[in-house]
Amino acid sequence: MSAGFITVDVASGPGDRVQIKDMKPTAFDRFAKNYERIHGESMPPLLESRQFMEQKLGWVLEFLETHFTAEASADVLDFGCGVGRVLAGLSDHPSVRSLTGIDESAESIKIAEAQAKSFSKPSGFGRAVADFSIDRRYELILAFNVFHHVAPDQRATLAALLASRLKLGGYFLLWEHNPWSPAARYLVKSCPFDKGVTLLKRAEAEGLLADGGLKHISSEFVNVTPPLLQKFPPFRWLDSATSAWPLGAQFRMVFQNAD
Ligand SMILES: C[S@@+](CC[C@H](N)C(=O)[O-])C[C@H]1O[C@@H](n2cnc3c(N)ncnc32)[C@H](O)[C@@H]1O
Repeated sequence: MSAGFITVDVASGPGDRVQIKDMKPTAFDRFAKNYERIHGESMPPLLESRQFMEQKLGWVLEFLETHFTAEASADVLDFGCGVGRVLAGLSDHPSVRSLTGIDESAESIKIAEAQAKSFSKPSGFGRAVADFSIDRRYELILAFNVFHHVAPDQRATLAALLASRLKLGGYFLLWEHNPWSPAARYLVKSCPFDKGVTLLKRAEAEGLLADGGLKHISSEFVNVTPPLLQKFPPFRWLDSATSAWPLGAQFRMVFQNAD
């Protein structure tokens, strides 16, 4: 890896390589050991880092239930996996064949990899997509709260790169903060990991992945109410009743390699 840059393979073939500027390669390194605590401390009372992670994990588990089976299982890539919290929650699922985690933070990957020793499924970890063979492709790719850490002018390259690693028929799941939401802007402003980030709007996300060659399947805004309250039916109802409007603090989207 040359200073400040990583070299990545792009969609069209092994011969095509492009240099993209390496985004803060160690920005998360100093938080890795205490990620959950530091993240939690930046939030107001009643909000915990774990609640947001469990919500994302719950969404993936639901998705696995409806789109995959033990016989037609998924190789899963979590791009920007951090310390591997979502991967750990997927490791026992019968519809998961293998787990791959990529994160530019070496310290985060170290923790994720150590934890994966207890996984019953094959797993692999790296700091960039280029750490894996260009032939390595997945049925399910996750990118949760990662794209806002990537400089706006590098997002299209990243979207195309990730799209190129989806098998035909495979799905890409994105989760991001909603820049229209004052609550999201407050959370981002208070979070030490998020200094200097540029949030992306849902329309930008849709355009990036569509330009990368993926078909947009669905979008919803979530977290009009805090995740904790959504255990109670009236709050859950409110959240799902407002999912079409940009009121929630986050949004989540599903894309498919449908060509
Ligand atoms: C806010 S954390 C989210 C972690 C995890 N996905 C979650 O939802 O809990 C963002 C993660 O993305 C990683 N990241 C940011 N830009 C990246 C890039 N260009 N390549 C790989 N990882 C990246 C960071 O190192 C960090 O671990």
